[in-house]
Amino acid sequence: MSARHGTFRLQRGETTPPQPSLLSSIEGFRADVLLGLAHAPKAIPSKYLYDRAGSALFDRIAQLPEYYPWRSELGLLRDARDDLARVVPPHAHIIEYGAGSLLKVRLLLDALREPATYVPLDISSDWLIAAGKQLASDYPSLRVRPVTADFSRPCEIPLPPGPRLAFFPGSTIGNFVPGDAHVFLERVRSQLGHGGGLVIGVDLKKDPDILWRAYNDAAGVTAAFNRNVLTRINREIGAGFDCGLFRHYAPYNAHDGRVEMHLVTDCTQAVHVGGRLFCFREGESIHTENSYKYTIDEFRALARNAGFFPSEVWSDGLFAVHYLKAN
Ligand code: AVJ
Repeated sequence: MSARHGTFRLQRGETTPPQPSLLSSIEGFRADVLLGLAHAPKAIPSKYLYDRAGSALFDRIAQLPEYYPWRSELGLLRDARDDLARVVPPHAHIIEYGAGSLLKVRLLLDALREPATYVPLDISSDWLIAAGKQLASDYPSLRVRPVTADFSRPCEIPLPPGPRLAFFPGSTIGNFVPGDAHVFLERVRSQLGHGGGLVIGVDLKKDPDILWRAYNDAAGVTAAFNRNVLTRINREIGAGFDCGLFRHYAPYNAHDGRVEMHLVTDCTQAVHVGGRLFCFREGESIHTENSYKYTIDEFRALARNAGFFPSEVWSDGLFAVHYLKAN
């Protein structure tokens, strides 16, 4: 590991953040943060990176020259247009998990033959409603039915009969540890009936220098995105984090095949969080995100184990878009 990767040592083994609680909104956030900070090593579930400010910062990350996944996936979806039209049956009901980018689903909608319904699933209902309206006015023959839900948990999706197409772009699957990715894929598969399929974007394993640059950009936008979770904790739970005392650190952990985001403190300190006191040793980190990378074959094997039949793959050597059949 070169000097610029820092002196913080990766913890091997048990680095999975604790399971999120079943409580809702602010109480759930508080419970998850207190549990995560009491855990050794300290961790905060990555879904909390995406409040309003965090989502805006992620939109800026997507446009960074170093962050190739966004551009790669857009290009691949464009290239896949004719293939998608051929392999996905007409009149499909589309379910998007964590509907972040209306741009990407537009590429899918433009490719498919007469898509019938679009169901974006997201935790943020404000965003969903605004985005849903916009899409519905641009695609008059499409039924848009947003559902507010945490897609990492089981949920019912009411839809008329017909082929279902799940859409999970952005390599968000990489945020799950492989065991959770397996559970998630099994659940998606069970939501797809006869003729169903999943279009999923997955980031590839590659030269660690390319990964380092993608997650440690020169403009510091990813660092601001990472630190924003502390600002959110200060505001929503009541905490005394001095964000300036935590530095962004995002190395590739080759042993586990994932980029890890951490917030590392270089001084010993105690911080009040939600009425409790947490001590930090010099060099200690809070693990804020995993971003697993899969070779094409590794991901196809994961999908097969979850009951899918891997079919087409579109790749540019950096990123892959897979089409997985449900049956
Ligand atoms: C959108 C969650 C897939 O892991 O690459 C970008 C989030 N984190 N830079 C990713 C992210 C740091 C991104 N995902």
